Amino acid sequence: ELSGPAARPLVGLRALVTAGPTFEPIDPVRGLTNRSSGKQGYAIAAALARRGAEVTLVSGPVALDAPPGVRRVFVETALQMKTASDAALPVDVAVMTAAVADWRPDQVATGKIKKAPGGPPSLALTENPDILAGLAATGPRRPRLVVGFAAETENLIANARAKLSRKGCDWIVANDVSADVFGADGNAATLITAEGEESWPRRSKAELAEALADRIAAHLTTPGA
Ligand code: CTP
Ligand code: CA
Repeated sequence: ELSGPAARPLVGLRALVTAGPTFEPIDPVRGLTNRSSGKQGYAIAAALARRGAEVTLVSGPVALDAPPGVRRVFVETALQMKTASDAALPVDVAVMTAAVADWRPDQVATGKIKKAPGGPPSLALTENPDILAGLAATGPRRPRLVVGFAAETENLIANARAKLSRKGCDWIVANDVSADVFGADGNAATLITAEGEESWPRRSKAELAEALADRIAAHLTTPGA
């Protein structure tokens, strides 16, 4: 193991990590959510903190302890996640691993919706803002490095590359979720940048986090990058 400055290349730098699902209430007892244990995002927050970064972890509802030295902000909805992410700025790097619900119910019923003889209610939905695309948009508060995740079940690389350019982020981690990923400890991914691709065969989420944190540290400490 390294010790000294080489082991903590991110001292003095700030990081934002989003993780977990969002939960969009329908009424006081129901909601729309996504599958995400938060494990991969928490592991990345931990790996960045171990390298010396000051890390804010904006987390949806998950059953995980905050990693040592990480400032965690719990949120429920996508709108809250966006507000908390904006409040964490400025940062040098943002890693957006959260499985944000793409839609939220137009209206949240104040009382529990009851079953009725007329059949099930229909839900009108509104699209949530894209937190990643908002952060990646050019402006004085844009992080130097914006990293997205793309969970795909097919056409992994092509879909992820399209997302990279559509959202304007610098890197995207293309995550193959066709296999056993959700809630599991293993993950397989490809890091996609403007320069090329690096594929990371299935490994633990902790090991994937270490690999990504090493790439981030190398990038942020390269003069001119
Ligand atoms: N993301 C975000 N805000 C949203 C939706 C997604 O910040 N409202 C981020 C995720 O955290 C992830 C990346 O965008 O880093 C890709 O999310 P994904 O759901 O794969 O992309 P979408 O553009 O929502 O496309 P899809 O239709 O495939 O869901
Ligand atoms: Ca989505």
